Amino acid sequence: MSLIQPEKLPFFDHQLAQRPRNFIPIYEPSLGEREEALVVEAVRSGWISSQGKYINQFEQEFAEFCGVREGVAVCNGTIALHLALHALGIGAGDEVIVPTLTFVASANAVHYTGATPVFADVDPVTWNMDPASVERLITPRTRAIMPVHVYGHPAAMPELNALAQAHSLLIVEDSAEAHGAAIGTQRTGAFGQIAAFSFMANKIITTGEGGMLTTDDAALAARCRMLRDHAMPPERRYWHPEVGFNYRMTNLQAAVGVAQMARIDEFIERKRQIAQQYTTALTNLAGVTLPVELPGYTNVYWMYSVLIGQDYGLTRDELIPALRERGIDSRPFFHPLDTLPPYYSATPQPVALRLSQQGLNLPSAPSLTDEQVAYICDVLWELAK
Ligand SMILES: Cc1ncc(COP(=O)(O)O)c(C=O)c1O
Repeated sequence: MSLIQPEKLPFFDHQLAQRPRNFIPIYEPSLGEREEALVVEAVRSGWISSQGKYINQFEQEFAEFCGVREGVAVCNGTIALHLALHALGIGAGDEVIVPTLTFVASANAVHYTGATPVFADVDPVTWNMDPASVERLITPRTRAIMPVHVYGHPAAMPELNALAQAHSLLIVEDSAEAHGAAIGTQRTGAFGQIAAFSFMANKIITTGEGGMLTTDDAALAARCRMLRDHAMPPERRYWHPEVGFNYRMTNLQAAVGVAQMARIDEFIERKRQIAQQYTTALTNLAGVTLPVELPGYTNVYWMYSVLIGQDYGLTRDELIPALRERGIDSRPFFHPLDTLPPYYSATPQPVALRLSQQGLNLPSAPSLTDEQVAYICDVLWELAK
């Protein structure tokens, strides 16, 4: 029995709720009675700001899920990256190597510190940062590598870690899209000095907006906790030895996070089943390249993404409106960051550029039904003719 009937609330968005019943969104959060109950409990407790029992619980459970000792909850994934870089002392004059095929937040976080993001090309098969490209970009100013596990497939961490070790570089993982992805038994969030996650509404688990840092380094975690609270040491109130930030997560968000943690394995399992269904149905569709899962790697398919090549009947940009007319939402891949005005390069990385022109994210929410996935695949076959 639901505690609240959303349609009775004064600010309920009836227009959104009235979108066609059979419209399939690119993603939607799966929120249930437990999320509702814990938020209500947090409200009733009065602990609605950044203190309260759910913050610690969420940090501990998420760190344990990633296989690390420390979790630091913050208000979104972008500032999680910024906080990580800042806490590691990265700033003006430094370079951080970022893949060019990622969401803009990865590079913006570097930019906020005063350091320069340097854009590596990506692997044509996994779409992740290409270690060979990274190696070519290392200079005496390079301080860190930021692997992004794009769309849910882990980046080539063994090779990237080896490069980092050989050149004394830090690894800051951007795991915003890859909760639970793994290489062997090691999950993302545990490969570098520190990692950042996002809990925005379209992520594998959500807190509305929200983020988390994970690390095995207790001193680094303590530094991040202090910096997220205006650099106030826990033992000395209103004493600020340096400039910090208000990057705190609220107990309300953490209440949702705790409820989502109880379902994270179920979400990932369902996402992998959906991916399997897509892959089985689309395998022989000419002109469509499917996502991979390298041996030993676990892809969590945050997005089930495909490349639309020349042999398909329509281009990627013709396909998006055609799908929409049939009630199916989709998204193009990110523009490579080295083609965007703030980070423009006259010679953008070539593999990422091609992928960004062909890449398409299909509906990927764990709430998709088998019938919806089958319908999407049927439409893709039909439009190819
Ligand atoms: C790769 C990547 N990095 C960082 C972020 C930023 O996370 P947030 O939206 O929580 O700030 C996102 C997603 O939004 C992302 O996809």
